Amino acid sequence: MITLVRPATFQGLVASALAIGLSTPAVPRHAAVEARATADTLNDPPVLKNVSTIPGTDEFNLTAEPARIALLPGHVTEAYTYNGSVPGPTIEVREGDRVIIHFRNHLTEPTTIHWHGLHIPADMDGSPLRPVGPGKQYDYIFTMPRGTAGTYWYHPHPDVRTGYQIAKGLFGAFIVRDPNDPLPASLPEKLLILSDNRFTPDGSPEIADPHSMQGQIDQENGREGNVLFVNGQVMPKIMIRSGEVQRWRVINVSAARIYRLAIPGHAFLHVGDDGGLFERPVEINEFLLANSERVELLVRGTGAPGSRAVLQDLPYDRYDPHTRPADWEATRDLLTLQYGDGPPVVPVQLPATLRHIVALDTAKVTARHVIVLSQGLINGRTMDMNRVDVHSRLGATEIWEIQNVVTMDHPFHLHGFQFQILDRDGIPEPYRSWKDVINVRKHQTVRFIVRLDDFPGRWMFHCHILDHEDHGMMGILDVLPPPTRRRM
Ligand code: C2O
Ligand code: CU
Ligand code: CU
Repeated sequence: MITLVRPATFQGLVASALAIGLSTPAVPRHAAVEARATADTLNDPPVLKNVSTIPGTDEFNLTAEPARIALLPGHVTEAYTYNGSVPGPTIEVREGDRVIIHFRNHLTEPTTIHWHGLHIPADMDGSPLRPVGPGKQYDYIFTMPRGTAGTYWYHPHPDVRTGYQIAKGLFGAFIVRDPNDPLPASLPEKLLILSDNRFTPDGSPEIADPHSMQGQIDQENGREGNVLFVNGQVMPKIMIRSGEVQRWRVINVSAARIYRLAIPGHAFLHVGDDGGLFERPVEINEFLLANSERVELLVRGTGAPGSRAVLQDLPYDRYDPHTRPADWEATRDLLTLQYGDGPPVVPVQLPATLRHIVALDTAKVTARHVIVLSQGLINGRTMDMNRVDVHSRLGATEIWEIQNVVTMDHPFHLHGFQFQILDRDGIPEPYRSWKDVINVRKHQTVRFIVRLDDFPGRWMFHCHILDHEDHGMMGILDVLPPPTRRRM
């Protein structure tokens, strides 16, 4: 059990041995070991320093640069980083703030930063339409709208290279805080960025030749890795007290892996997703987290002092039967939840209502679009940067019907605008929330309602399986300003 307190520098093999060790019954521990074991081994990514002294302005410097770093613990190789770290630094801002990010591209290839889920002007969205060349810089400047507090993330979005650059290490969390957050500020908060990767023997990300068998499978299934990370760490540990309630923000930045998450023996209170908090908490035992989705959860320490539990990724069949991996039914361990030995604490009182979400009104719908997802195609076509696929007007309220006509899940993402899910296969969504990505399951049809307010311009929509996106499973929405208004 001494391995429990090893710093997070162990190699993959040791990590799996550790994971196996964790499922064996607890043995008496030495007091000194116990003292050291009372801290989380899960590290938060560094929080990016706000260099502005003006209240209400958040100003940051962010550089994409190669760095020698261990993506796979114990193997230092050259990776891509934001400011030298993987995950990149966490950007924290408040609703209403003006945000200025001075971005520098020190890579040898074009990139962008896309602020996934944020409602900001089109030329600040970091889409493939606005690449930042090697050695170039770009200032991303926007204001955080009120009511958008939540968990978002940032990642590169260059034409056809998104999957590659994320696999090399480019991703980070972006948290928007509400100055009047309804959840008690006393709740310990944890950020969990879930990624997976696959490595060559020297510890570099293994990117298969597109013409190889593996390359073909990656193109079909999306690239999955056999090493699963939380904040870039393998099987880290979070401490919890019996009775304690923690607030977790979970982000799936994996290229293709859809997580089915559970902590056996524990229920979660699901309090929010992509666009922030729900109206009321929803009790769940497990949940699916598709690519680029986020959730906010309250984890309640219902275990006994000294016990432990494991956050697991349970089997989920998102695959076409022909390319389904042989080990798809494996359960994978992600993180240990370790109870301290102290006596239980009194659980904190939680509000029954978190906020009010105004329902977008289906009676006000001005346009409807049908989007058909087939393997690698949207409405039968691949991406063309010069073609507009969906024409809309600023201020429109629209229903989008997303039909998946194939035997594989496709998580559908719209840039720039949060939407509300109306129904899935005709079954009304049980509760209201703001979303920017929706996993459309095999042969499923999902309808959502969206209001295209504030920001005219060209916006991407795409499958967020990165290999599908890079191979053209993407389209462009053009939101035209009303004729009487000038283009912003
Ligand atoms: Cu997170 Cu266009 O994507
Ligand atoms: Cu996006
Ligand atoms: Cu897809």
